[in-house]
Amino acid sequence: MEQQLVAIKIALYALLAALLVVLCGAIFFELDKKPDEPRFWCGTTSLAALSAQYGPGKELFVANCASCHSKNMRDNLTGPALGPALAAWSKYPRKDLYNYIRDSQKMLRKRHPQAVKTWKEYQPTVMNTFPGLTDQQIEDLLAYIEKAYQPSY
Ligand code: HEC
Repeated sequence: MEQQLVAIKIALYALLAALLVVLCGAIFFELDKKPDEPRFWCGTTSLAALSAQYGPGKELFVANCASCHSKNMRDNLTGPALGPALAAWSKYPRKDLYNYIRDSQKMLRKRHPQAVKTWKEYQPTVMNTFPGLTDQQIEDLLAYIEKAYQPSY
């Protein structure tokens, strides 16, 4: 009986020690990460760390656009590569692009040439609308897209 109790105690201490080792390992591993790497404890990137490093555009991009548009701004995914897209939209007034990002289908109905061209390639996939984005937030997004499209980025 006595011996059994001792054995159980030893097993419990061993278990506790193993848990501590795993926990410390996990904490050190997390602390070692760069600010924009995903965090173990919340599953998403620390937004404050992101804006400090890349400006507010990156967190807007990750939250709203990255599900459809490639983060390298070069590959076409569900939506087209945004690096070349900005070059194409630069032929038109900046406001056109603001309006497009807020409601691309509205710009399509107005037969905006670039909206029509892109729609021909991507229909029937419809981009989300973002009526709540302010001019400043869109500028932040565009600045981030330009930056991420640079070859040195
Ligand atoms: C649900 C997927 C989806 C999301 C989310 C999304 N897009 Fe799109 N985007 C598309 C698709 C698909 C197109 C192609 C046009 C179409 O089919 O409406 C597109 C087109 C575009 C274009 C025009 C490209 C061109 O070549 O003319 C821009 C600019 C753009 N998106 C920016 C954004 C930004 C900025 C965000 C985030 C605020 C965003 N998109 C979020 C799917 C998406």
